[in-house]
Amino acid sequence: MNDTFLKACRGEEVPYTPIWIMRQAGRYLDQYQNVRKKVDFLTLCKTPDLAAEVTIQPVDILNVDAAILFSDILIPCEAMGMNLEFQESSGPVLSPAARDKNSIDGLSVPDPEDKMKFVMDTIRILRKELTGRVPLIGFAGAPFTTATYMIEGGTSKNFLNTKRMIYENPDLYKSLMDKITAAITGYLKAQVSAGAQAVQIFDTWGGIFSPGDFREYALSYVIKIIEELKKWMKTENHEHVPIIYFVGETAGILEEIRTSGADVCGVDWRINIDDAIKRLGGDVVVQGNLDPLSLFLPQDRIEERVKDVLSRASSAPGHIFNLGHGVVPQTPPDNVIALVEMVHRLSKKQ
Ligand code: CP3
Repeated sequence: MNDTFLKACRGEEVPYTPIWIMRQAGRYLDQYQNVRKKVDFLTLCKTPDLAAEVTIQPVDILNVDAAILFSDILIPCEAMGMNLEFQESSGPVLSPAARDKNSIDGLSVPDPEDKMKFVMDTIRILRKELTGRVPLIGFAGAPFTTATYMIEGGTSKNFLNTKRMIYENPDLYKSLMDKITAAITGYLKAQVSAGAQAVQIFDTWGGIFSPGDFREYALSYVIKIIEELKKWMKTENHEHVPIIYFVGETAGILEEIRTSGADVCGVDWRINIDDAIKRLGGDVVVQGNLDPLSLFLPQDRIEERVKDVLSRASSAPGHIFNLGHGVVPQTPPDNVIALVEMVHRLSKKQ
């Protein structure tokens, strides 16, 4: 198997810098669109054979060094008891919004092998189909990012309802976060048991806070999940599965992220990755950090930026190349294919 990605996560010597791409399965690929023509997005997530098929597409097409489970961070919200819909125009809708004690008390901590069995089935199919190829990354939303969708009822611009709950009713916020944290912890354990070989925790909106608020209202719950996962892997005698912590806007809060306990820290493109490595303490593996929209540059200019990221990242104990956030639907697939080839060629050790 190509285990370059797992080796880099562990800070071991690698023959070249591994790369995978956030949102590597998705609408920018015609092959994905062809599957999506037949079924809506939620049905795709809940049909293990199809979810496995679109998970493998970018491995075949792009030659990336890891596959990421095809699913969505909002799947556990439905399992906790909310209604989930994906609308073509406005994105995800969760109802009724979790804003008062009644609706939060009504949410449950699900048994993942019962309520989200389709995810674990997808992982089990993928481990069979990927044998001898690349490792499989599982994932979940971080409690705070998940909570924003539950409290706002969907996507938000300024997170007014979320911040109001935090500031006006901190006990209610904490009760919601404790439930989500328990649900996500169980969900990630189930993914690891089913065969996920690394897990990424997506905290897309964590960067909307001041450093102090980030620590108290977002990071503290992630720390609990990471501590519990590590303890559980040890007691189960399970091989240590690397934990990647990705925050959407990292520049203001790297000193906080440093304390997360994650094996790998994601870095976005708003900061040079060598500066981020220093502020993370210099001893943690990093993942990132090309601006996703730089994939619209001509390929020779993309190559200059790839060289720049590779050389800046060389001071870290390990580097996994990625974009600073997800690839956008309008991206030319040929440039993504070229990016993977460039990273492999330019980072190859003699
Ligand atoms: O390839 C992969 O990375 C795996 C699949 C994956 C999806 N969503 C598929 C998806 C992953 C890891 C996610 C995570 C996710 N989902 C995040 C965190 C990652 C990030 O980008 O910060 C968030 C915030 C969500 C919530 C979500 N899902 C929104 C806001 C939307 C609508 C906006 C959009 O991009 O369409 C989705 C839908 C979604 N999730 C799609 C895909 C491929 C598009 C659905 C379609 O096919 O129409």
